[in-house]
Amino acid sequence: MKEIQWFPGHMQKAKREIKEKLKLVNIVYIVVDARLPYSSFNPILLETITNKPVLVLINKADMADPIETKKWLKYYHDIGYHSLDIDAVSRYNIKKIIPKTKEILKEVIKKNKLKGIHTSLRSIIIGIPNVGKSTIINTMVKKKVSQVGDKPGVTKAQQWIRLDDDIDLLDTPGVLWPKFDTKEIGLSLALSGAIKDTILPIDDVVAYGFDFLIKYYKKIFFERYKMDIELPILDIYEHIGKIRGCLLNKDIDYERVNRLFINDIRKVLIGRITFDRYDKLI
Ligand code: G4P
Repeated sequence: MKEIQWFPGHMQKAKREIKEKLKLVNIVYIVVDARLPYSSFNPILLETITNKPVLVLINKADMADPIETKKWLKYYHDIGYHSLDIDAVSRYNIKKIIPKTKEILKEVIKKNKLKGIHTSLRSIIIGIPNVGKSTIINTMVKKKVSQVGDKPGVTKAQQWIRLDDDIDLLDTPGVLWPKFDTKEIGLSLALSGAIKDTILPIDDVVAYGFDFLIKYYKKIFFERYKMDIELPILDIYEHIGKIRGCLLNKDIDYERVNRLFINDIRKVLIGRITFDRYDKLI
Protein backbone atom coordinates (compact mmCIF):
# COMPACT_ATOMS: atom_id res chain seq x y z
CA MET A 1 0.00 0.00 0.00
CA LYS A 2 1.26 3.44 -0.87
CA GLU A 3 1.76 5.65 2.17
CA ILE A 4 0.50 9.17 1.61
CA GLN A 5 0.32 11.68 4.44
CA TRP A 6 -2.49 14.13 3.77
CA PHE A 7 -1.78 17.54 5.23
CA PRO A 8 -4.00 20.56 4.43
CA GLY A 9 -1.47 21.74 1.82
CA HIS A 10 -1.55 18.36 0.07
CA MET A 11 -5.34 18.37 0.06
CA GLN A 12 -5.44 21.82 -1.54
CA LYS A 13 -2.90 20.74 -4.15
CA ALA A 14 -4.77 17.50 -4.92
CA LYS A 15 -8.04 19.37 -5.33
CA ARG A 16 -6.41 21.94 -7.62
CA GLU A 17 -4.75 19.23 -9.73
CA ILE A 18 -7.99 17.33 -10.11
CA LYS A 19 -9.84 20.50 -11.14
CA GLU A 20 -7.20 21.08 -13.83
CA LYS A 21 -7.38 17.52 -15.09
CA LEU A 22 -11.17 17.58 -15.16
CA LYS A 23 -11.04 20.37 -17.75
CA LEU A 24 -9.40 17.90 -20.14
CA VAL A 25 -11.93 15.09 -19.99
CA ASN A 26 -15.42 14.15 -21.14
CA ILE A 27 -16.09 11.51 -18.48
CA VAL A 28 -14.82 10.73 -14.97
CA TYR A 29 -14.38 7.25 -13.56
CA ILE A 30 -14.58 7.45 -9.78
CA VAL A 31 -13.18 4.32 -8.16
CA VAL A 32 -14.47 3.19 -4.77
CA ASP A 33 -13.71 0.09 -2.73
CA ALA A 34 -16.69 -2.30 -2.74
CA ARG A 35 -16.13 -3.00 0.96
CA LEU A 36 -16.56 0.74 1.62
CA PRO A 37 -18.56 2.12 -1.30
CA TYR A 38 -19.58 5.18 0.71
CA SER A 39 -16.57 5.82 2.96
CA SER A 40 -14.08 5.52 0.10
CA PHE A 41 -15.89 8.20 -1.91
CA ASN A 42 -14.59 11.63 -1.00
CA PRO A 43 -17.57 14.05 -1.04
CA ILE A 44 -15.25 16.81 -2.22
CA LEU A 45 -15.75 15.21 -5.64
CA LEU A 46 -19.38 16.24 -5.63
CA GLU A 47 -18.44 19.92 -5.56
CA THR A 48 -15.49 19.47 -7.93
CA ILE A 49 -17.21 17.48 -10.68
CA THR A 50 -20.25 19.49 -11.55
CA ASN A 51 -20.69 19.20 -15.28
CA LYS A 52 -19.13 15.89 -16.32
CA PRO A 53 -20.76 12.49 -16.55
CA VAL A 54 -19.52 10.10 -13.87
CA LEU A 55 -19.17 6.34 -13.91
CA VAL A 56 -18.60 4.98 -10.41
CA LEU A 57 -16.48 1.84 -10.53
CA ILE A 58 -17.15 -0.23 -7.42
CA ASN A 59 -13.87 -2.14 -7.42
CA LYS A 60 -12.72 -5.14 -5.35
CA ALA A 61 -16.21 -6.61 -5.71
CA ASP A 62 -14.59 -10.01 -5.10
CA MET A 63 -13.85 -8.96 -1.49
CA ALA A 64 -17.25 -7.49 -0.66
CA ASP A 65 -20.65 -8.87 0.26
CA PRO A 66 -22.48 -9.26 -3.11
CA ILE A 67 -25.88 -8.44 -1.59
CA GLU A 68 -24.57 -5.12 -0.27
CA THR A 69 -22.79 -4.35 -3.55
CA LYS A 70 -26.14 -4.55 -5.37
CA LYS A 71 -27.59 -2.03 -2.92
CA TRP A 72 -24.68 0.37 -3.44
CA LEU A 73 -24.97 0.11 -7.22
CA LYS A 74 -28.58 1.20 -6.79
CA TYR A 75 -27.54 3.98 -4.39
CA TYR A 76 -25.19 5.52 -6.95
CA HIS A 77 -27.78 5.15 -9.67
CA ASP A 78 -30.37 6.86 -7.46
CA ILE A 79 -28.12 9.88 -6.80
CA GLY A 80 -27.59 10.33 -10.53
CA TYR A 81 -24.39 8.47 -11.33
CA HIS A 82 -23.77 5.51 -13.56
CA SER A 83 -22.18 2.60 -11.73
CA LEU A 84 -20.55 -0.75 -12.34
CA ASP A 85 -19.18 -3.38 -9.97
CA ILE A 86 -15.78 -4.65 -11.06
CA ASP A 87 -12.81 -6.68 -9.89
CA ALA A 88 -9.61 -5.39 -11.48
CA VAL A 89 -7.59 -8.47 -10.50
CA SER A 90 -9.81 -11.17 -12.04
CA ARG A 91 -11.03 -8.65 -14.67
CA TYR A 92 -14.68 -9.20 -13.74
CA ASN A 93 -16.83 -6.67 -15.68
CA ILE A 94 -13.74 -4.79 -16.94
CA LYS A 95 -14.90 -5.41 -20.52
CA LYS A 96 -18.14 -3.58 -19.77
CA ILE A 97 -16.41 -0.25 -19.00
CA ILE A 98 -15.89 0.87 -22.60
CA PRO A 99 -19.38 -0.02 -23.93
CA LYS A 100 -20.89 1.64 -20.85
CA THR A 101 -18.78 4.75 -21.45
CA LYS A 102 -19.94 4.90 -25.07
CA GLU A 103 -23.53 4.54 -23.96
CA ILE A 104 -23.12 7.42 -21.49
CA LEU A 105 -21.40 9.59 -24.10
CA LYS A 106 -23.55 8.53 -27.04
CA GLU A 107 -24.88 12.02 -27.71
CA VAL A 108 -21.37 13.51 -27.79
CA ILE A 109 -20.14 10.73 -30.09
CA LYS A 110 -23.12 11.28 -32.40
CA LYS A 111 -22.58 15.06 -32.51
CA ASN A 112 -18.88 14.65 -33.25
CA LYS A 113 -19.63 12.24 -36.07
CA LEU A 114 -22.18 14.63 -37.60
CA LYS A 115 -19.67 17.47 -37.44
CA GLY A 116 -16.97 15.24 -38.92
CA ILE A 117 -14.83 15.62 -35.79
CA HIS A 118 -12.46 12.69 -35.30
CA THR A 119 -10.89 13.51 -31.93
CA SER A 120 -11.36 10.79 -29.36
CA LEU A 121 -13.16 11.32 -26.07
CA ARG A 122 -11.09 11.59 -22.93
CA SER A 123 -11.48 10.01 -19.53
CA ILE A 124 -9.78 10.02 -16.13
CA ILE A 125 -9.71 7.73 -13.11
CA ILE A 126 -10.06 9.35 -9.68
CA GLY A 127 -10.17 7.97 -6.16
CA ILE A 128 -8.60 7.76 -2.72
CA PRO A 129 -5.38 5.70 -2.33
CA ASN A 130 -5.52 1.92 -2.44
CA VAL A 131 -8.94 1.51 -4.07
CA GLY A 132 -7.29 -0.06 -7.13
CA LYS A 133 -6.88 2.86 -9.55
CA SER A 134 -3.47 1.78 -10.91
CA THR A 135 -4.61 -1.84 -11.14
CA ILE A 136 -7.64 -0.79 -13.19
CA ILE A 137 -5.51 1.32 -15.54
CA ASN A 138 -3.08 -1.56 -16.00
CA THR A 139 -5.91 -4.00 -16.56
CA MET A 140 -7.65 -1.76 -19.08
CA VAL A 141 -4.53 -1.16 -21.12
CA LYS A 142 -3.16 -4.67 -20.60
CA LYS A 143 0.36 -3.39 -19.98
CA LYS A 144 2.12 -2.04 -16.91
CA VAL A 145 1.96 1.73 -16.49
CA SER A 146 3.84 3.64 -13.84
CA GLN A 147 2.53 3.91 -10.29
CA VAL A 148 1.31 7.25 -9.10
CA GLY A 149 2.90 8.95 -6.14
CA ASP A 150 5.98 6.76 -5.84
CA LYS A 151 8.38 9.52 -6.84
CA PRO A 152 7.39 12.68 -4.97
CA GLY A 153 8.31 15.85 -6.77
CA VAL A 154 8.80 14.17 -10.12
CA THR A 155 6.13 15.30 -12.52
CA LYS A 156 5.96 13.69 -15.90
CA ALA A 157 4.11 14.82 -18.96
CA GLN A 158 0.53 13.71 -19.05
CA GLN A 159 -0.05 10.91 -21.47
CA TRP A 160 -3.20 9.53 -22.95
CA ILE A 161 -3.68 5.83 -23.32
CA ARG A 162 -5.83 4.69 -26.20
CA LEU A 163 -8.55 2.40 -24.83
CA ASP A 164 -10.42 2.09 -28.09
CA ASP A 165 -10.98 4.05 -31.34
CA ASP A 166 -13.18 6.58 -29.56
CA ILE A 167 -11.83 6.78 -26.00
CA ASP A 168 -8.55 7.78 -24.36
CA LEU A 169 -7.64 7.51 -20.67
CA LEU A 170 -5.22 9.74 -18.76
CA ASP A 171 -2.33 7.48 -17.71
CA THR A 172 -2.10 8.87 -14.15
CA PRO A 173 -5.11 8.77 -11.88
CA GLY A 174 -6.32 11.68 -9.77
CA VAL A 175 -5.67 10.94 -6.10
CA LEU A 176 -7.85 12.31 -3.32
CA TRP A 177 -7.57 11.95 0.45
CA PRO A 178 -10.03 9.74 2.33
CA LYS A 179 -12.64 11.58 4.36
CA PHE A 180 -13.21 10.96 8.07
CA ASP A 181 -16.64 12.43 8.66
CA THR A 182 -17.47 10.00 11.45
CA LYS A 183 -15.49 7.73 13.76
CA GLU A 184 -17.16 4.72 12.14
CA ILE A 185 -15.88 5.73 8.71
CA GLY A 186 -12.33 6.06 10.07
CA LEU A 187 -12.52 2.67 11.80
CA SER A 188 -13.91 0.95 8.70
CA LEU A 189 -11.22 2.48 6.50
CA ALA A 190 -8.59 1.29 8.98
CA LEU A 191 -10.03 -2.21 9.28
CA SER A 192 -10.04 -2.76 5.54
CA GLY A 193 -6.51 -1.36 5.16
CA ALA A 194 -7.53 1.75 3.21
CA ILE A 195 -5.57 3.99 5.60
CA LYS A 196 -2.29 3.59 7.43
CA ASP A 197 -2.39 1.36 10.52
CA THR A 198 -0.77 4.06 12.64
CA ILE A 199 -3.63 6.56 12.21
CA LEU A 200 -6.07 4.96 14.67
CA PRO A 201 -5.35 2.82 17.78
CA ILE A 202 -5.37 -0.81 16.66
CA ASP A 203 -7.32 -1.90 19.77
CA ASP A 204 -10.17 0.43 18.79
CA VAL A 205 -10.10 -0.84 15.21
CA VAL A 206 -10.26 -4.49 16.30
CA ALA A 207 -12.97 -3.86 18.93
CA TYR A 208 -15.01 -2.11 16.25
CA GLY A 209 -14.42 -5.08 13.93
CA PHE A 210 -15.61 -7.63 16.53
CA ASP A 211 -18.76 -5.60 17.22
CA PHE A 212 -19.44 -5.05 13.54
CA LEU A 213 -19.09 -8.72 12.63
CA ILE A 214 -21.29 -9.84 15.50
CA LYS A 215 -23.93 -7.40 14.34
CA TYR A 216 -23.83 -8.08 10.59
CA TYR A 217 -21.82 -11.23 9.93
CA LYS A 218 -22.26 -13.33 13.07
CA LYS A 219 -22.47 -16.67 11.28
CA ILE A 220 -19.16 -16.42 9.40
CA PHE A 221 -17.44 -14.73 12.36
CA PHE A 222 -18.48 -17.55 14.70
CA GLU A 223 -17.50 -20.18 12.14
CA ARG A 224 -14.03 -18.72 11.63
CA TYR A 225 -13.26 -18.57 15.35
CA LYS A 226 -15.31 -21.57 16.49
CA MET A 227 -17.57 -19.52 18.70
CA ASP A 228 -21.11 -20.47 19.66
CA ILE A 229 -22.18 -17.67 21.99
CA GLU A 230 -21.69 -13.91 22.02
CA LEU A 231 -18.91 -12.88 24.36
CA PRO A 232 -17.69 -9.55 25.75
CA ILE A 233 -14.72 -8.06 23.85
CA LEU A 234 -12.02 -9.25 26.26
CA ASP A 235 -13.42 -12.78 26.27
CA ILE A 236 -13.34 -12.78 22.45
CA TYR A 237 -9.62 -11.93 22.66
CA GLU A 238 -9.11 -14.76 25.17
CA HIS A 239 -11.03 -17.21 23.03
CA ILE A 240 -9.30 -16.36 19.74
CA GLY A 241 -5.94 -16.22 21.50
CA LYS A 242 -6.43 -19.72 22.88
CA ILE A 243 -7.78 -21.43 19.77
CA ARG A 244 -5.26 -19.78 17.46
CA GLY A 245 -2.26 -20.11 19.77
CA CYS A 246 -1.63 -16.38 20.32
CA LEU A 247 0.04 -16.80 23.67
CA LEU A 248 2.90 -15.07 25.41
CA ASN A 249 4.23 -17.02 28.42
CA LYS A 250 0.82 -18.69 28.81
CA ASP A 251 -0.96 -15.29 28.75
CA ILE A 252 -2.99 -14.08 25.80
CA ASP A 253 -0.88 -12.07 23.37
CA TYR A 254 -3.40 -9.33 22.56
CA GLU A 255 -1.14 -7.76 19.93
CA ARG A 256 -0.97 -11.02 18.02
CA VAL A 257 -4.75 -11.46 18.18
CA ASN A 258 -5.08 -7.95 16.76
CA ARG A 259 -2.76 -8.72 13.87
CA LEU A 260 -4.34 -12.10 13.19
CA PHE A 261 -7.86 -10.68 13.11
CA ILE A 262 -6.90 -7.77 10.86
CA ASN A 263 -5.08 -10.10 8.51
CA ASP A 264 -8.13 -12.42 8.39
CA ILE A 265 -10.33 -9.45 7.47
CA ARG A 266 -8.00 -8.04 4.80
CA LYS A 267 -7.27 -11.43 3.22
CA VAL A 268 -11.02 -12.18 3.12
CA LEU A 269 -10.45 -15.26 5.30
CA ILE A 270 -13.58 -14.67 7.38
CA GLY A 271 -15.66 -14.04 4.28
CA ARG A 272 -16.78 -11.28 1.96
CA ILE A 273 -17.62 -8.30 4.14
CA THR A 274 -19.01 -4.85 3.36
CA PHE A 275 -18.42 -2.31 6.09
CA ASP A 276 -20.65 0.46 4.77
CA ARG A 277 -24.30 -0.39 5.33
CA TYR A 278 -26.70 1.04 2.80
CA ASP A 279 -29.65 0.33 5.11
CA LYS A 280 -28.19 2.67 7.76
CA LEU A 281 -28.06 5.52 5.26
CA ILE A 282 -31.71 5.48 4.23
P1 G4P B 1 -4.40 2.69 -6.04
O1 G4P B 1 -3.75 2.90 -7.37
O2 G4P B 1 -5.83 3.17 -6.02
O3 G4P B 1 -3.64 3.25 -4.89
O4 G4P B 1 -4.52 1.12 -5.76
P2 G4P B 1 -3.66 -0.10 -6.42
O5 G4P B 1 -4.05 -0.27 -7.85
O6 G4P B 1 -2.23 0.09 -6.09
O7 G4P B 1 -4.25 -1.34 -5.61
C1 G4P B 1 -4.10 -1.47 -4.20
C2 G4P B 1 -4.14 -2.94 -3.83
O8 G4P B 1 -5.46 -3.46 -4.12
C3 G4P B 1 -3.19 -3.81 -4.62
O9 G4P B 1 -2.77 -4.85 -3.76
C4 G4P B 1 -4.05 -4.40 -5.70
O10 G4P B 1 -3.57 -5.64 -6.19
C5 G4P B 1 -5.35 -4.61 -4.95
N1 G4P B 1 -6.52 -4.63 -5.83
C6 G4P B 1 -6.84 -3.71 -6.77
N2 G4P B 1 -7.99 -4.04 -7.35
C7 G4P B 1 -8.42 -5.17 -6.77
C8 G4P B 1 -9.60 -6.00 -6.95
O11 G4P B 1 -10.50 -5.74 -7.73
N3 G4P B 1 -9.66 -7.10 -6.13
C9 G4P B 1 -8.72 -7.41 -5.22
N4 G4P B 1 -8.90 -8.50 -4.48
N5 G4P B 1 -7.61 -6.65 -5.03
C10 G4P B 1 -7.48 -5.55 -5.80
P3 G4P B 1 -1.28 -5.01 -3.30
O12 G4P B 1 -0.37 -4.70 -4.43
O13 G4P B 1 -1.16 -6.32 -2.63
O14 G4P B 1 -1.15 -3.85 -2.33
P4 G4P B 1 -1.26 -3.89 -0.76
O15 G4P B 1 -2.06 -5.10 -0.38
O16 G4P B 1 0.13 -3.89 -0.32
O17 G4P B 1 -2.01 -2.64 -0.43
